[in-house]
Amino acid sequence: MRAIRGATTVSADRAEEIRSAVQELLTEICVRNGLSEGEMICILFSNTGDIRSFYPAKAAREAGFASCALYSSAEPEIEGALPLCIRVMILAEGEEKPRHVYLKGAANLRKDLKKFAVALDGPSGSGKSTVAKLLAKELGILYLDTGAMYRACALKALRENCSFEESAVEALMENLVLEIRYEGGAQRTVLDGKDVSEEIRRPEVSMAASKISAFSCVRKKLVEMQQKIAEEQSCVLDGRDIGTTVLPRAEFKFFVTADSATRAARRGKELEAKGFSVDLKKLREEIEERDKNDSTREHSPLRMAKDAVLVDTSNMSVDEVIAFIKKKMQEKV
Ligand code: DC
Repeated sequence: MRAIRGATTVSADRAEEIRSAVQELLTEICVRNGLSEGEMICILFSNTGDIRSFYPAKAAREAGFASCALYSSAEPEIEGALPLCIRVMILAEGEEKPRHVYLKGAANLRKDLKKFAVALDGPSGSGKSTVAKLLAKELGILYLDTGAMYRACALKALRENCSFEESAVEALMENLVLEIRYEGGAQRTVLDGKDVSEEIRRPEVSMAASKISAFSCVRKKLVEMQQKIAEEQSCVLDGRDIGTTVLPRAEFKFFVTADSATRAARRGKELEAKGFSVDLKKLREEIEERDKNDSTREHSPLRMAKDAVLVDTSNMSVDEVIAFIKKKMQEKV
């Protein structure tokens, strides 16, 4: 006897879609395993709790798989599980090596099964950090905000009245003691032994970060730190050069952007919520200046990797962006 596994996904909880997805999955399993319906002893289905409109076992019966025992059950709700997923195990006669079949992105994105990285690059205010944080949480993997690391270097430069000349920045980097810690799943940026996670969000640090990130001595040191973190575990990284320089072989790459007025409005809201007063026109000008700095600098300028998927979030909600990214990831696995 052999046990053959398979899984597929649907885009929505619709009976029609479940019927055709199940039929396609079973047909594919039969073809790839040279299996006829008469050799099947039983077919066991499980589906995620978000599938309620139709039993996969009923779909199998309707598709003509009726002479063997059929069984369907719902899976417990697991945080970070692939949504709208139907899994199957077929017990069949024969001793051949089973060929398992995973369709429509149903291969598992679980961090314990295969390490992977998601690169989210884009200009500031594009929404990428909000999306990156939520996406990492849903996938149950680490989120690394690489901008925070450049901000920490900028804060050190401001504190030490650094002139932002190459030689002064080089000396500064030699004495940099930067650490990224995680507390309750949240990234904390620790500079010279002190938590600066809030302080690095100040507007003057943003501008200084854009300047300091142009220096190759800064980039080299931070890129090495980022690569080391990503080497050890699955993670979502957001930044400007993740897909091009930090992790050119990242499994999933997205370039998240939005028009500058939308980005200024979003950043304005964020700053207001933190108690800063906001001049939207000035903010937009600053954002455009930072875009220019970030995309025209010599070392690792902000640009979209050739194999990245473009996501323009100007008219999308956070949920829509996440759903879009997850769909693209599923299509690729
Ligand atoms: O994403 P952010 O606004 O926190 O980034 C702060 C600055 O750091 C931004 O001007 C660009 C720079 N940066 C970079 O050059 N490379 C990265 N991977 C991340 C940020």
